[in-house]
Amino acid sequence: MKVAVLGAAGGIGQALSLLLKNGLPAGSELALYDVAPVVPGVAVDLSHIPTAVKVAGYGKDDLDPALAGADIVLIPAGMPRKPGMDRADLFNVNASIVRTLAEGIVKNCPKAFVGVITNPVNGTVPIVREVFKKAGTYDAARVFGVTTLDVIRAETFIAELKGLDVSEVKVPVIGGHSGTTILPLLSQVAGVEFSDEEVASLTKRIQNAGTEVVEAKAGGGSATLSMGAAAARFCFSLVKGLQGEENVLEYAYVEGNTGDAEFFAQPIRLGKNGVEELLPYGELSAFEQKAKDDMLATLEKDIKEGVDFMA
Ligand code: NAI
Repeated sequence: MKVAVLGAAGGIGQALSLLLKNGLPAGSELALYDVAPVVPGVAVDLSHIPTAVKVAGYGKDDLDPALAGADIVLIPAGMPRKPGMDRADLFNVNASIVRTLAEGIVKNCPKAFVGVITNPVNGTVPIVREVFKKAGTYDAARVFGVTTLDVIRAETFIAELKGLDVSEVKVPVIGGHSGTTILPLLSQVAGVEFSDEEVASLTKRIQNAGTEVVEAKAGGGSATLSMGAAAARFCFSLVKGLQGEENVLEYAYVEGNTGDAEFFAQPIRLGKNGVEELLPYGELSAFEQKAKDDMLATLEKDIKEGVDFMA
């Protein structure tokens, strides 16, 4: 198993790489790529951790060897938010970074599973699709926008609020990955009742959780540690799928079949070919239905921005 992390020297990249070094199956290879000169050092640093995962660092000009033969590629490269910015403000800088990296994937590992973390995810995932389509290598089952952070935040906040064991709390989160496009389905959380006020305030908190971190870091970036944990969790699910484990369920922003928008975060079953099955998100409450209807125009605009960038 070879996993490549593109943007591996950044806040997310380093946290994620640490978790992968500790959690990938024995015998795996971890390829760390970044344009920042510190990346070989990050690789050396991680290589001193005693696990059977081989780590190598690749600098600016070595995207090709970093990607060669990769089974999974995770992309946390690019600029994070500062206070006052929303994720859409990152588009201009990050769109071309994602395009370049996707072109590298086409060339070196066109069959890899690709997890896009770089914001705005709503628009960067369509860019990856367009690059792959242009090259004739697009497979919708292998391209994922990583929205796991929204899921783990929802689990954490609900467990805190209701005094539950967080490992038992499962929360569907659908839609996109910015502001109101993030839609937690609180009506589907098993065994938990919420008042209307709780639904309204929890939904808002989950949608704005990224901003909570951006403001607390006061100009020092956005979520990196929780995002590293989220991306690692998603990557381990991809690995389980690749290894043929059954019933590996996740949520991700994919070109799916809900009929809501071209790309939409929905439940998926993972397997050897990526998405083995697109699952329905089930029945929505009146509150969720309205929130979904209200956010679709924003999500579609974000998707179009990605597609137009490549046109
Ligand atoms: P960071 O600034 O700490 O790290 C970004 C890294 O990307 C840097 O090391 C930089 O050198 C590298 N980079 C820039 N251009 C590159 C290129 N062309 N090729 C390879 N590497 C390149 O940023 P951080 O905090 O790690 O965030 C990274 C991205 O993840 C941001 O766009 C951020 O908005 C996004 N993000 C996504 C989340 C999600 O839930 N999907 C959550 C939090 C952040």
